[in-house]
Amino acid sequence: MSEIETIISGVGSYLPERILTNAELAKTVDTSDEWIRSRSGIAQRHLAADGQATSDLAREAAWAALGQAGLKPKDIGLIIVATVTPDKTFPSTAVYVQEKLGTPPCIAFDVSAACAGFIYALNIAHGFIASGQVKHALVIGAEKLSCFLDWNDRGTCVLFGDGAGAVVLSAETPSVAGPKRGMLATYLSADGRLAPHLYADGGPSTTGTVGLVKMNGKEVFRNAVEEISGAVFEVTERAEVSRHEIDWFVPHQANIRIIQSCAKKLELCESKIIVTIDKHANTSSASIPLALDAGIRDGRIKRGELLVFAALGGGLAWGSALIRY
Ligand code: COA
Repeated sequence: MSEIETIISGVGSYLPERILTNAELAKTVDTSDEWIRSRSGIAQRHLAADGQATSDLAREAAWAALGQAGLKPKDIGLIIVATVTPDKTFPSTAVYVQEKLGTPPCIAFDVSAACAGFIYALNIAHGFIASGQVKHALVIGAEKLSCFLDWNDRGTCVLFGDGAGAVVLSAETPSVAGPKRGMLATYLSADGRLAPHLYADGGPSTTGTVGLVKMNGKEVFRNAVEEISGAVFEVTERAEVSRHEIDWFVPHQANIRIIQSCAKKLELCESKIIVTIDKHANTSSASIPLALDAGIRDGRIKRGELLVFAALGGGLAWGSALIRY
């Protein structure tokens, strides 16, 4: 890899207008606001409208990220959409986003790594930039999970929501003074033996259907705490940074108890964690860029600070990224 730095030059997110509160959900599902809040930390979730596709959510987030970066669609050389709810089986959702943004021909494809998808996509885009193939990349996590939830399964349907988040990654020449900026270290892994713990029970080459989300909550919880905290240890070691130097932990938002258990293992104070699970629920690949954007917009995350992203989801697949913002 070259000496080029891969920096986050813009961040944006989008949440559909419709909010579904726990109390509203409890009118149609055998659950309660108290159960959902105490077991997961979720108070509400956003739901996409019927006519809104994943590419529509992604387009809004990408447009906001481009604006923050001060770039135009024509400046983008690569679009990656991390999603498990593509508009169509093929082509990629990324090409629909490209078309909706009005981006001239460029590299565009999707990444399927469920809730770890954004971290996988970030790592891939970093490779394209560090190798000099592109100057600016759009990395988007976007999901319309509401379309494949089993609304009769209270063990899963209460946990998820729809939304999109995006970052623009840009190539920068390192400055002579100051610490290295942008992507400092990344770590990815997956273990297909654990696939039965979280999956959709359909697919084009098996059932010919999209399927519905199936989950063994306890096993996912246990693995999430283990692998998310392990992934943070891994990137800090790779970058030779002390965990105590981390300014912000921006974790995948699946369950507040998973986040708190990871923070305890990592000895990270809770005031250094960006939490959006209460308002967004679990938006899979969109959750980290949505949380990042929330932390930047409310003024907590500032330029130059050290951020760590980490996620685990279906696969099981997991990963982390250490970034100087
Ligand atoms: N409302 C009310 N009761 C519910 C419920 C709901 N929405 N969902 C499950 N229950 C019931 C169960 O039926 C069970 O009842 P029982 O004791 O009579 O059998 C009881 O609540 C406890 O269920 P349990 O599964 O033990 O709860 P839990 O403390 O493990 O919490 C999860 C369940 C799903 C919140 C938790 O396991 C979790 O968050 N796992 C990780 C999920 C995740 O992160 N997935 C995405 C990863 S990307």
